[in-house]
Amino acid sequence: MTSQAIATQNLSFGWTAETPVLKSCSLEVPHGEFWMLLGTNGSGKSTLLKLLGGLLTPQAGTLEIIQPFGFVFQNPDHQLVMPTVATDVAFGLAYDNLSTLEIRHRVFEALAAVNLNHLQRRPIYALSGGQKQRVAIAGALARHCEVLLLDEPTALLDPDSQIDLVQQVQRLVKERGLTALWVTHRLRELDFCDGAFLLDQGYVVDQGDPERLKRRLMQLQGNVA
Ligand SMILES: Nc1ncnc2c1ncn2[C@@H]1O[C@H](COP(=O)(O)OP(=O)(O)OP(=O)(O)O)[C@@H](O)[C@H]1O
Ligand SMILES: [Mg+2]
Repeated sequence: MTSQAIATQNLSFGWTAETPVLKSCSLEVPHGEFWMLLGTNGSGKSTLLKLLGGLLTPQAGTLEIIQPFGFVFQNPDHQLVMPTVATDVAFGLAYDNLSTLEIRHRVFEALAAVNLNHLQRRPIYALSGGQKQRVAIAGALARHCEVLLLDEPTALLDPDSQIDLVQQVQRLVKERGLTALWVTHRLRELDFCDGAFLLDQGYVVDQGDPERLKRRLMQLQGNVA
């Protein structure tokens, strides 16, 4: 892998042999860029992200991804497991053999990056949806992840929080040189990315300029509706 943070070649996957979901998908996400993965419902976006995250194994093809990477799920309640903000962010460091001081420093630094340091002691249940997603992202930052895989992280957020979150991830990518791949079908979010991929019927049918892909997604959504 050269300047790519994520690269797949001819990746194929199906839940059964008769129903392929991804057919020979090839894509590359350049290091230090914010890319989005688009497609209508059921087009295979989550499946592709799970393959990248090692949660599923491809039936054919190859993939490379820079380590360590972090995964942010659509529903943060499936991801946050500890009672408070700080303990949840620290949880991901449990196996890293770090000193207590170093853990505290990593948690502080990661929460500062997502503007949540003032909520360190807050119980998870008392956070908004957008705050929960930021705690999940802080968990990945605390582990010093270089790549973020985010599966519709704004799905459960109100419109203002959606834009706040996408702006925050854009800023993290630009300021820290991270790489992010963000699944969405919300056209507004495309204004914040460097490039996008469009999945349709198992194929990556287009990639590159977000404006062009926005227009193609609108056509596809129109056909589905
Ligand atoms: N665990 C599973 N077992 C069998 N089929 C599945 C499973 N998960 C997803 N599928 C099927 O795989 C296909 C792709 O699903 P996937 O969840 O990747 O789509 P998606 O693009 O993320 O859709 P959405 O926009 O609704 O989140 C769909 O036809 C779906 O029904
Ligand atoms: Mg999905």
